[in-house]
Amino acid sequence: MTDLTGAVVALTGSGSGLGLGLAQYFGDCGATLALLDISSEKVAALQESFGDDILAMQGDVRDIGALTAFRDAIITRFGRVDCLVGAQGIFDGNRPISDLPVDKVPAAFDEVMQINVLGYILSAIVFREELAKRNGSITLTASSNASYCADGGGLLYTASKHAVVGVVRQLAFEFAPDIRVNAVSPCGIADSDLRGPGALGLESESQNDIPKDSFMAMIRKVTLLDHLPTGAEYGPAYAILADPKQRILTGEIIMADQGLANRPIISSR
Ligand SMILES: NC(=O)c1ccc[n+]([C@@H]2O[C@H](COP(=O)([O-])OP(=O)(O)OC[C@H]3O[C@@H](n4cnc5c(N)ncnc54)[C@H](O)[C@@H]3O)[C@@H](O)[C@H]2O)c1
Repeated sequence: MTDLTGAVVALTGSGSGLGLGLAQYFGDCGATLALLDISSEKVAALQESFGDDILAMQGDVRDIGALTAFRDAIITRFGRVDCLVGAQGIFDGNRPISDLPVDKVPAAFDEVMQINVLGYILSAIVFREELAKRNGSITLTASSNASYCADGGGLLYTASKHAVVGVVRQLAFEFAPDIRVNAVSPCGIADSDLRGPGALGLESESQNDIPKDSFMAMIRKVTLLDHLPTGAEYGPAYAILADPKQRILTGEIIMADQGLANRPIISSR
């Protein structure tokens, strides 16, 4: 396990699924945690389960004021920030673009792109100066299914996750040598509460609603490891990239895909 003792980690989108699992894993690695989520219910639950040693704040990653308040609260409370980890996101319900009423596309596009892409960009800008003081890191969340090819979601989600790859590469270039910028591309997440855009009426449809065996059956068809990981199981991949002791990896995206990209589908299993 990566030793993150002494590191202050700011995690956006940490209320459930991947982000919550990463918070647990980073905490187990010895990091001091600062957690942000848009849902006040999830933030209350975070405070309750992690206790008073952590900072938990409600805020929307699309809101510069909320991100600035989060950064300032971290500096006031802990005096520094070493790692920014972005785990927020929404899905698009896997709707083919031709099934969407065209007049709903602009608002749905804005919602998906603003949360999945702009939120990462704004967080990086707001945290840049403080991270640079510590030779810190930014670790974002792409997708093994949607960042490199089709059919890991609908067009809006796929476009947003492809964009995350560009954000990582350009930020790694622009923020060098002070801050390393990387990402992880997860495959499935067992305890995900991933929701869709309100613009398509999908805000209360959660990935959690999909029965686990049919989700598992879908994962098994395309990956090698017969396993649907929890958010916390992605922790080691994020921790390697975020680790302040590591001065090697930047502009890197770890394919945490359980062998998906190693498997052109010829034989069925
Ligand atoms: N679920 C999967 O199978 C899967 C696969 C690959 C990649 N991902 C990616 O992993 C990340 C986490 O997804 P998850 O499955 O854990 O979903 P999740 O919904 O369980 O977690 C996302 C968290 O982000 C929060 N959030 C949403 N909008 C926000 C905003 N505007 N500001 C602040 N917080 C906000 C949500 O409240 C939630 O707590 C996303 O980027 C997703 O695209 C998920």
